[in-house]
Amino acid sequence: MTCIDTLLTGDAGNVRALEARPQFQLLRHDVSQPLELGGPVDAVLHFASPASPVDYAAHPIETLEVGTLGTRNLLELAQARGAVFLLASTSEVYGDPLVHPQPETYWGNVNPIGPRGVYDEAKRAAEAFTMAYHRRHGLRTRIARIFNTFGPRMRSNDGRAVPNFITQALAGKALTVYGDGSQTRSLCYVDDLIEGVMRLLACDEPGPVNLGNPQELTMLELARLVKELTGSRSEIAFSPLPVDDPRQRQPDITRARELLEWEPRVAPREGLARTIDWFRSTGR
Ligand SMILES: NC(=O)c1ccc[n+]([C@@H]2O[C@H](COP(=O)([O-])OP(=O)(O)OC[C@H]3O[C@@H](n4cnc5c(N)ncnc54)[C@H](O)[C@@H]3O)[C@@H](O)[C@H]2O)c1
Repeated sequence: MTCIDTLLTGDAGNVRALEARPQFQLLRHDVSQPLELGGPVDAVLHFASPASPVDYAAHPIETLEVGTLGTRNLLELAQARGAVFLLASTSEVYGDPLVHPQPETYWGNVNPIGPRGVYDEAKRAAEAFTMAYHRRHGLRTRIARIFNTFGPRMRSNDGRAVPNFITQALAGKALTVYGDGSQTRSLCYVDDLIEGVMRLLACDEPGPVNLGNPQELTMLELARLVKELTGSRSEIAFSPLPVDDPRQRQPDITRARELLEWEPRVAPREGLARTIDWFRSTGR
């Protein structure tokens, strides 16, 4: 298995344990640049992209490039080697959704020129590229529309609500909730997500499939839950809502249930407890 990463927002430490295995290698390479790879290729899983609003605001051009040029390079690799191609797409393709919960048939409500546009539109282009290779070349494709996912090994400073709240709570600092905290997200634990991705890879659905946990939480509920699970006495502080922040998010996972016989098994409370343990034990 070859893991290709620029380490732009990643950390080589996350795969260090895997590097001891002879069949694993980490290759530092920008997938937006052309790519040569020896040996047989069974599957190309395209997960490369800055993924948090803080990261794609810091790397807007790289984000657009990896969704477009990077996707094209990896589709070419899959096609040349007869491999199956899986795209890690996102619920951000739905933008600030006018349909709730969001089924795969919903086309979305995205601001192309707002600060989130670089990520949302790159992923929408990545989906369009993927379907074009499927239709034009008969490439075996899979598109995972991933909703908010969390777990151990997230960066404490990546700006997403879960690591933000946990690191603030563990440091005894105020938990920063944007707006009045009534905006919702659906949080999927990473083990569930990976199980869904592996099942999607093994099925033969070329189009998008939502993967996420339909259990919706307001950001204020999430902050209170993190406080409770960490036993923190931190205050909850309120900051202005970021531009184009989606009001609500909840996947309709009917398609994943039917096609993959998949649904999340780890409740947000349990996943958060495991994640808090990891942040505590590593001192991140
Ligand atoms: N975590 C979520 O909630 C979520 C939700 C929807 C979609 N996704 C998608 O899943 C994927 C992984 O997200 P994550 O949360 O693990 O983020 P992450 O930042 O931990 O992982 C992304 C990785 O891609 C690498 N990368 C970025 N640009 C690259 C390039 N041009 N070439 C090679 N490597 C590059 C980064 O260094 C990083 O290791 C992303 O494509 C993201 O859009 C994640």
